[in-house]
Amino acid sequence: MPNLKRILDKLSPKTFYYDWKARQPTEHLMHSFDHVEFKKLLKYKDDTGHPQYRKYFNARYWLRQNVRRALLLKLNITRPMKILDIGAGFGYFPYAAHFYGHDVIGIDLPDDVLFKKACDFLKVDCRDYRIEPMTPMPSFGDRFDFVTAFQICFNGHIEGAPWEADKWDFFLEDLFKNHMNEGGRVYLEMNWNSTIQGWLPANVEALFKTKYKGQFDGPARIMLFAPVEK
Ligand SMILES: C[S@@+](CC[C@H](N)C(=O)[O-])C[C@H]1O[C@@H](n2cnc3c(N)ncnc32)[C@H](O)[C@@H]1O
Repeated sequence: MPNLKRILDKLSPKTFYYDWKARQPTEHLMHSFDHVEFKKLLKYKDDTGHPQYRKYFNARYWLRQNVRRALLLKLNITRPMKILDIGAGFGYFPYAAHFYGHDVIGIDLPDDVLFKKACDFLKVDCRDYRIEPMTPMPSFGDRFDFVTAFQICFNGHIEGAPWEADKWDFFLEDLFKNHMNEGGRVYLEMNWNSTIQGWLPANVEALFKTKYKGQFDGPARIMLFAPVEK
């Protein structure tokens, strides 16, 4: 049975508003690349982590989703930022954020040929890196003002064992301390997880709210801030 919480989250007036606002810039972005060349990427359609990822060939739909995300995050009116997008996939969010003047690096799994080809096609700088629990990330050159991650899978989501608070805390401490500029923010869009019948284990939600001053936009989207030094 479709889950009511998930449906209500998708039907929020705010989502509709930003989706409407995204329509025109999406058309602009649709005209920014050669669609005949884009379709040639279909030859890599099986060289990806999950058959579901073929959905990303629907460029208009996914560009619109990502322009909506960028507008929701006010990337169209903020100063140019250095952004890290974790699990960048086809590169649509970095592509949209770059359109609004930001300098974006993506990271995604090293072995995903389709994502690599798609990012190359869109001229998105996507680096190979697999996030592992309790393992600090290497430096990607610069520090970031903003870290984003949409429809997160790096947290054990696929394996059905979503990270508990200790793993999130390690990951976020490393991010804020070693990879971000002062005043930097982290934005997470969680995936629905059927194992826990929710988006986040309760101890993770508590960690986000207390230590990282998490601002929730609905149950699945959270803005996090650096913890206060004691
Ligand atoms: C559901 S897709 C979301 C893609 C994109 N962010 C979006 O919202 O359309 C999850 C992404 O996370 C990547 N991913 C999964 N596990 C990862 C890990 N351990 N480290 C880095 N990326 C990972 C996948 O390859 C995939 O691109």
